[in-house]
Amino acid sequence: MARSLIVYFSQGGTTAKVAGSIATGLRREGYQVDLHNMKEERQPDISGYDLLGIGSPVYFFRPPFIVTDYLKSLTDLGGLPAFTFVLHGTYRFDTGRSIRRVLARKGAQDVGYFHCHGADFFLGYIKQGYLFSPDHPTPAELSLAEDFGSQVAGRVAGKPYSLAEEDRPPPLVYRLQRLSLNRWFAEQIYSRFFRLDKEKCDACGLCMKMCPRANISEDKDGYPVWGRNCLLCLTCEMKCPKDAITTPISWPFIRPIMKYNVSHASRDPALDHVRVTHRKGRTRPI
Ligand SMILES: Cc1cc2nc3c(=O)[nH]c(=O)nc-3n(C[C@H](O)[C@H](O)[C@H](O)COP(=O)(O)O)c2cc1C
Repeated sequence: MARSLIVYFSQGGTTAKVAGSIATGLRREGYQVDLHNMKEERQPDISGYDLLGIGSPVYFFRPPFIVTDYLKSLTDLGGLPAFTFVLHGTYRFDTGRSIRRVLARKGAQDVGYFHCHGADFFLGYIKQGYLFSPDHPTPAELSLAEDFGSQVAGRVAGKPYSLAEEDRPPPLVYRLQRLSLNRWFAEQIYSRFFRLDKEKCDACGLCMKMCPRANISEDKDGYPVWGRNCLLCLTCEMKCPKDAITTPISWPFIRPIMKYNVSHASRDPALDHVRVTHRKGRTRPI
């Protein structure tokens, strides 16, 4: 029996859902499929697999660092068929292309590219009162993902496939944002400015538990301390039930940038959104 491994990163669960649907499509075609979320501690051994899938959400118009690091860690893929899928709340731009390019450089054979919307719990937009792509992936998108899995199996078996269109790069304004949120800035600047209000924090440990990079440790009193290995997913601030954490997304000069993005995306007829409030770790519709 042919074997496929799907390795994805999912913090909010939408990429995991799509991975599951693609796996269903592959199983329909007789594949045995293993699924692995990159945030688990140990990465799987890919030897012995006939097909590799890489799934990623878009973070700041690029793949999150955890995905880039995983791709970097792969050794020569020696012609292994590989597919890519990307989840995005607003604009994905060329995130998928950058993943597919690394896979090609590692010697993979591109057998497919899928993308769809995923509920966008990005705190920068939530703080502006907007949740983009709520209820995505929809049942229709999940069904397309399942069909994609079947198509990929067909291509590996030799059915003709013309490479999916390349995504376009971001316009300048988003490219500058992407640049300002690159790894150097994350490690050297933003990571140093996670603030904790000890009056509010009750050392519940939720932020440590939810950090996908195990980047938060506890001090001698049980309070969180941030390291430099941050993805800027902002889950720690977002989920804190006491509103005790402040990350750089709350800096005043970031607000106009978020306002600009939100005003553009909320007027885009291709994007769904709902208005929300966020308090004490919970996002609620208004
Ligand atoms: C920190 C962060 C940054 C994000 N940046 C983008 C972005 O630049 N473009 C976009 O379309 N979606 C963006 N999103 C939305 C996610 O890509 C999308 O919601 C995805 O479905 C999340 O996947 P998950 O539920 O598997 O974690 C961002 C989400 C987070 C949390």
